[in-house]
Amino acid sequence: MNRLFRRIERRFELSACHPSFLTRKIPAGLSYLHCFGGLAFVLYLVLLLSGMLLSVYYLPSEQEAFRSVVAITREVRLGFLVRGMHRWAGHLLLVLVLLHTVRVVVQRAYLPPRELNWLAGVFILLLLLASGFTGALLPWDQKAYWTTVIASGIAGTAPWAGETFLQLVRGGPEVGGATLLRFYSLHVLWLPFAINLFLWAHFHMVKRLGIKGGL
Ligand code: HEM
Repeated sequence: MNRLFRRIERRFELSACHPSFLTRKIPAGLSYLHCFGGLAFVLYLVLLLSGMLLSVYYLPSEQEAFRSVVAITREVRLGFLVRGMHRWAGHLLLVLVLLHTVRVVVQRAYLPPRELNWLAGVFILLLLLASGFTGALLPWDQKAYWTTVIASGIAGTAPWAGETFLQLVRGGPEVGGATLLRFYSLHVLWLPFAINLFLWAHFHMVKRLGIKGGL
């Protein structure tokens, strides 16, 4: 493996082109607890890749959505595996992000000068939760439908903005085809775009300030 890396390095000279990325100083006292953020990122990549594969077969319409998910699970080659990977990567990502957040809290890494990185993290967490919520409707089965009816209904009871929020989320008075299309668009375009933007800011700040060491 080492010989292979040396060979690639001789040709590409990656360490010379990206010295700040490949030869970064890290503080003393790092432990396995500092791996949760990196592991969460790996799972996020699995989520993106499996989502891109699912989007090749998924049909976001009232008539076709359920049937296309059944076809992905039963007929498409390895479809069940890709769907399972997407589902489990989503669940595990939330677990890892929470563990990562606990590490940051215990180590007080949210204090200045890292307060903006904490804020970026909070936005990422909210956007991830929104991704889970919008993704849950996409199988378009009974569980998906009623989860969205109940959850959006609860949000709709909020004072002042509740009713407007309900209309905006559902795209009409009831959960239907318009809601499915809105959730699909949010799930595959708007939310990943926003998450990528905040992740870029998150990593930029980690790079600039370094990791807080010693636990
Ligand atoms: C997909 C979600 C996330 C990913 C992939 C991610 C990734 C990372 C990585 C790789 C680091 C470098 C150090 C480490 O791994 O501990 C880091 C640092 C940090 N993260 Fe996250 N993170 C995520 C979400 C969050 C959330 C939800 C919060 C808090 C609300 C947060 C707050 C922070 C802070 C404050 C640091 C700096 C810690 C330090 O300097 O020691 N992150 N993150």
